[in-house]
Amino acid sequence: RSGVVTIPVVVHVVHNPSTPAQNIGDAQIHSQIDVLNRDFRAANPDVSRVPDAWKPLVADIEVEFALATVDPHGAPTEGIVRAETDRTGFDSHDAVKAAASGGADPWPSDQYLNLWVCQLGEGLLGYAQFPGGPPQTDGVVILHSAFGTTGTAAAPYNGGRTATHEIGHWLDLFHIWGDDDGACSNDDRVADTPNQADSNVGKPAFPHVSCNNGPNGDMFMNYMDYVDDDSMFMFTRGQRERVNACLEGTRASFLV
Ligand code: ARG
Ligand code: ZN
Ligand code: CA
Repeated sequence: RSGVVTIPVVVHVVHNPSTPAQNIGDAQIHSQIDVLNRDFRAANPDVSRVPDAWKPLVADIEVEFALATVDPHGAPTEGIVRAETDRTGFDSHDAVKAAASGGADPWPSDQYLNLWVCQLGEGLLGYAQFPGGPPQTDGVVILHSAFGTTGTAAAPYNGGRTATHEIGHWLDLFHIWGDDDGACSNDDRVADTPNQADSNVGKPAFPHVSCNNGPNGDMFMNYMDYVDDDSMFMFTRGQRERVNACLEGTRASFLV
């Protein structure tokens, strides 16, 4: 690809009228788009906190996000759909992605990134579908209180980084620790992120060494770890290569 790719986004706010907080406001949605446009361009102010050893690895992913201005029928839109539900909340089983199961149907997922914002149970902040899956469930689901930086967004997940992380998956990035439960045997298929045993949470102190990855240890400040929003602030060049491969392959429909 050449240059920055802009992804049209539709946000489906799926809310139960008996819990008005679920119907988040436009300002909260715009605050999330703003975070994405900083994080995926390495324009986030906290990128300055990347340890010196890894500063050369920081990558501008050159992907931007814009609320859709044209809907699937060609009509003008603000890129926000509000859908009432009689469900009290959702889980990771995709009911939110279809009107027939109390959610909202996606817009064509080869032309729009579908973001569903709703109440989620089980302590889930969000989840994503990787490239290559069924089109009718393609996109990202995010807990309303982990979305954006204002409104119902609540610490420590009020930095908009749940969407950054989940859209990382949507663009084919794996968890930085390789999902091997501490075994050090699998990694994230990215050469410039150190092999790491398990996820980090909270606000870790640098360095945190695992899998013989000293002296610098885990790159826990990467968006694809599980730390608090204020403790993650970088993608790497190697991750950018995976995103490029995705945008030139499975998600090439977004290049036009
Ligand atoms: N899928 C992960 C979860 O639900 C998202 C973690 C996002 N991390 C964050 N700091 N916002 O736990
Ligand atoms: Zn994840
Ligand atoms: Ca790696």
